[in-house]
Amino acid sequence: MAEERHDEAVEALLHEDRSFAPSDTFVAQANVGPDVYAAAAADPEAWWAEQARALEWDTPFTSVLEWEAPFARWFADGTLNASVNCLDRHVAAGRGDKVALHWVGEPEGDRLDITYAELLERTCRAANALEALGVEAGDRVAIYMPMIPEAVVAMLACARIGAPHSVIFGGFSAEALADRITDADARVVITADGGFRRGAASGLKVEVDAALELCPAVTTSLVVRRTGQEVEWVEGRDVWWHDVVDAQAPIHEAKAFPAEHPLYIMYTSGTTAKPKGIFHTTGGYLTHTSTTHRMVFDIKPESDVCWTSADIGWVTGHSYIVYGPLANGVTQVMYEGTPDAGGKDRWWRIIDEYKVTILYTAPTAIRTFMKWGAELPAGHDLSSLRLLGSVGEPINPEAWMWYRKHIGGDRCPIVDTWWQTETGGIMITPLPGVTATKPGAAMVPFPGISAEVVDNDGAPVPDGHGGLLVITRPWPGMLRGIWGDPERYAETYWSKFDGLYFAGDGAKKDDDGDLWLLGRVDDVMNVSGHRLSTAEVEHAIVGHPAVAEAAVVGASDDTTGQAIVAFVTLTSSSELHGEDDTEIIASIRAHVADAISPIAKPRQVILTPDLPKTRSGKIMRRLLRDVAENRDLGDVTTLTDPTVVKMIDGLMAAHAEDD
Ligand code: PRX
Repeated sequence: MAEERHDEAVEALLHEDRSFAPSDTFVAQANVGPDVYAAAAADPEAWWAEQARALEWDTPFTSVLEWEAPFARWFADGTLNASVNCLDRHVAAGRGDKVALHWVGEPEGDRLDITYAELLERTCRAANALEALGVEAGDRVAIYMPMIPEAVVAMLACARIGAPHSVIFGGFSAEALADRITDADARVVITADGGFRRGAASGLKVEVDAALELCPAVTTSLVVRRTGQEVEWVEGRDVWWHDVVDAQAPIHEAKAFPAEHPLYIMYTSGTTAKPKGIFHTTGGYLTHTSTTHRMVFDIKPESDVCWTSADIGWVTGHSYIVYGPLANGVTQVMYEGTPDAGGKDRWWRIIDEYKVTILYTAPTAIRTFMKWGAELPAGHDLSSLRLLGSVGEPINPEAWMWYRKHIGGDRCPIVDTWWQTETGGIMITPLPGVTATKPGAAMVPFPGISAEVVDNDGAPVPDGHGGLLVITRPWPGMLRGIWGDPERYAETYWSKFDGLYFAGDGAKKDDDGDLWLLGRVDDVMNVSGHRLSTAEVEHAIVGHPAVAEAAVVGASDDTTGQAIVAFVTLTSSSELHGEDDTEIIASIRAHVADAISPIAKPRQVILTPDLPKTRSGKIMRRLLRDVAENRDLGDVTTLTDPTVVKMIDGLMAAHAEDD
């Protein structure tokens, strides 16, 4: 409820000293002590090498970092297998009976506990199946799946045979899926008939079928039966998982690959309309994800039950559901559905039932729970929780305090972790038991990571000032490039400041030198923790036959962080009439959902006869964002609303005068 935002206890805390010292419990038990920072800073490469040695290497590395800016190679002469590190070595050490995944399907009662030994067996069968289908090391495999165990198995099976996976979020449309399959030149797609979300079975194979009409090079689509819905079948191309995978031997001899062998591609939005295929390699990435997971979440593999609420289709799912936690051999909860399926207290029931100890989620989810009311979590025993994490977008202090009080019982530390698809793993974060925490601050770079806040000339800003976030030294989990486009990689991340990685985020150092992330400084939007580019959405909108021009901005939104607002001119504005506008707007929104995903649908489409532009023809986005943010324009604002026209006209007139 809205009152929750003004929860008196939370308000009071917000005005108290805003720093929380590490709790005695954590100080006593933490995996690392305060000396970790000095140890890492004294020799970051040696420190990372020591962390890397916690993995199982077939050929131990002798070289740590080769850095020919902006191209890094970590542990390059070592060889290892990511899947063996996540599975075989735990089983070999006698931990095969330990539960790897408590999987919870969306329909009530649909659940499965999978041990490490079982996960290994399933992965071996899938690896054998992929090889039988002709997949070889280096081939790319697209994965488009719901949150089911087979998604994890598919990823690990690809890793096992050295075939980089490209997981595409199940919410993407057929068109977006086709673009990503084509860019990576994947020949095999692993999918499911559908999945359960929001209380119903959604279709996935139907999207793959449509996508594959645009991807003639794809030879095979391997389909898991999840929902039992009717699907079309293309003989010779489509094969059932239960026919092909289940028939395979449960043993697969894994080969070791060089540390720099590509592990996966993950597409993410940049400032242009074309998504970037960020690719990660094996040894450095596994080192980074397992080390951060162990230290940031203070993992005790014997007793912890971790739950990262992200979808496997995003980097958080890759690093903190699959590779980090499984490399560390922990037990996890994996949940298929939406937070309100089966009641708005679904999450709290799951935490109570599985005695989850560590919850890692996004501020958008927390703000949604705030709206739903504190009585829902209060109705369940959440005392098993000992640590909370946040990721994906800046967390506002109110949400942070609510999370601490109503989910963490005022006792769990909160780690606000800043990182990106590109960074592979957590970069800026408190360490529980070591650093203090402040509501809304990501605090300090992780040991072995060097970050700075700089001004426009690349000079560090003093404490108490804001600027641009940069990373000043290569790190093990860093992206190795943009798939097929090394120039774009160098240009996007390394050209703004010589020798510094430009993250695209604004940040501030407070008076203590602690870091606060302020959101993107480029044309990337963050909607409910989903990253979308203005150009990508504009490109989709102008693909609508009635549209002449579009300008998209991210306006701040209480729940989703940012929301998409589109200013649109139609091909023939004289034809606009009140009733038709509503229809056109609905059809533009539907068009964006088709071209990209429902997550990219603008919250508002504002029809306007013109867009404010500079003399050189550049759309004045900042002014449009002011329009979008400062005025309550209602849900459907059209040309017939004179205030908008006036507002935009006014902006244009003001600009003309400036000129
Ligand atoms: O703007 C930052 C925001 O999310 C962007 C990265 O998005 P993506 O590659 O999709 O990865 C999301 C999950 C790691 C960043 O450039 N972001 C992520 N975490 C935080 C954040 N902003 C503020 N605070 C965070 N903790």
